[in-house]
Amino acid sequence: MGFKGLKPIMYGGREVWPLVEGGKGVSATNHLSSGAWAAAGGIGTVSAVNADSYDAEGKIVPQIYDALTRKERHEQLIRYAIDGAVEQVRRAYDIAGGKGAININVLWEMGGAQQVLEGVLEKTRGMVAGVTCGAGMPYKLSEIAQRFNVNYLPIVSSARAFRALWKRAYSKVSDLMAAVVYEDPWLAGGHNGLSNAEDPTKPEDPYPRVKALRDTMRGEGISDDVPIIMAGGVWYLRDWENWIDNPELGSIAFQYGTRPLLTHESPIPQQWKDALRELEPGDVLLHRFSPTGFYSSAVRNPFLRNLEARSERQIPYSKVEAGEHTVRLDVGVKGKNFWVAPKDLERARAWVLEGYTDGLRTPDDTIVFVDPIERDVIRKDQADCMGCLSHCGFSSWKDHDDYTTGRLADPRSFCIQKTLQDIAHDGPIDENLMFAGHAAYKFKQDPFYSNGFTPTVKELVDRILTGD
Ligand SMILES: Cc1cc2nc3c(=O)[nH]c(=O)nc-3n(C[C@H](O)[C@H](O)[C@H](O)COP(=O)(O)O)c2cc1C
Ligand code: SF4
Repeated sequence: MGFKGLKPIMYGGREVWPLVEGGKGVSATNHLSSGAWAAAGGIGTVSAVNADSYDAEGKIVPQIYDALTRKERHEQLIRYAIDGAVEQVRRAYDIAGGKGAININVLWEMGGAQQVLEGVLEKTRGMVAGVTCGAGMPYKLSEIAQRFNVNYLPIVSSARAFRALWKRAYSKVSDLMAAVVYEDPWLAGGHNGLSNAEDPTKPEDPYPRVKALRDTMRGEGISDDVPIIMAGGVWYLRDWENWIDNPELGSIAFQYGTRPLLTHESPIPQQWKDALRELEPGDVLLHRFSPTGFYSSAVRNPFLRNLEARSERQIPYSKVEAGEHTVRLDVGVKGKNFWVAPKDLERARAWVLEGYTDGLRTPDDTIVFVDPIERDVIRKDQADCMGCLSHCGFSSWKDHDDYTTGRLADPRSFCIQKTLQDIAHDGPIDENLMFAGHAAYKFKQDPFYSNGFTPTVKELVDRILTGD
């Protein structure tokens, strides 16, 4: 028995702890972490988002994109993604040794999501217990799960989103929906499902939101035995005492994304692990720079500060003289038809004196000012795009129809594929996006991690089961 009588649940045909390792791309969960999590009796999650594969000597195969067009590189990326995830699942399954369960995670907004998911499930039959999937509205998830006879676990951030998915698609494949993940859109690491109905600056208590989700599920005739998996901000189970065995909520499980980053088996580089121990409250920022257009949560490191600063150096313009826009911008841009407010002209001139000499247009009729080095990086990254998303705000790539979103490429954003690959493979942690949940500061406060202690996954799971 675990903390406060926490009991195993039936999942994938066996008893497992209601403790889930949240899937983390790119390569922040892999066979090592998820296999170990399953071996400890829980549900481990292989990230199927551009996972690593290995050469004959066991070295990671660098994902190099030599094709000339975006579309060809996108196809290359899908091949890498399928090969990598299949390899990760096979290894994880071996490590699990018949204990716990292995799930895979995909993001619906990743490029070619359906193709990748089908390609992986095709080659891993009998090994994958379920698919967790969030980001966007993955209506097709249930139909794909049915074809491969695996469980599916939608990730939602509100009862409303769940109801829409259920009504349109999931109700037709109700027996394979093994659980619903509620991901707190203010607290969880990675991409966050905040909608227009929620205020990013006003975090809401998860309890009433999860209760509303349960009420919605009941209203649709879904059994209380189908767990709701609480994700986002979960650290000590003792803080969740009122959630366990609570008839109001039905069956509850817990998902951990940030805590498992700091284990022996966690595949992230040592420097990233070391940085986690130093975080203070407030060091994780909920922001909107991701090229997916979603909110996301990451450490407010120099990389993120740089994006914040870039967006500060931003002024609105119009192509004709209108309203406040009474003067011509005479710095940073070519051409005479950039009309701006007089106060913004002064600001732009000051930025140019500081070295931010290049004005780049955004899709929102504004111009941001960057230095020439940054301008070249932005242009190169946009040119190198390998189509990792279904819609990319940064490069205007779209993975279907005419392969463009039809909007101007947005220089306020960044290439998430490049940066997540880089930080996962020992790139500089200050110059890359470092996803983390808002409870990450607890590494520094939690005595479990004192004196530089790093647990194994088994030690972490055992610790969690004590309530600490
Ligand atoms: C580094 C990192 C990467 C993540 N990547 C993904 C992902 O690719 N897909 C996904 O569904 N969730 C992703 N998440 C979310 C986790 O699976 C998990 O739900 C979340 O981190 C839970 O909240 P916590 O961070 O407070 O533990 C990521 C989280 C982190 C910290
Ligand atoms: S530019 Fe956008 S779609 Fe292209 S690889 Fe980077 S993040 Fe992915």
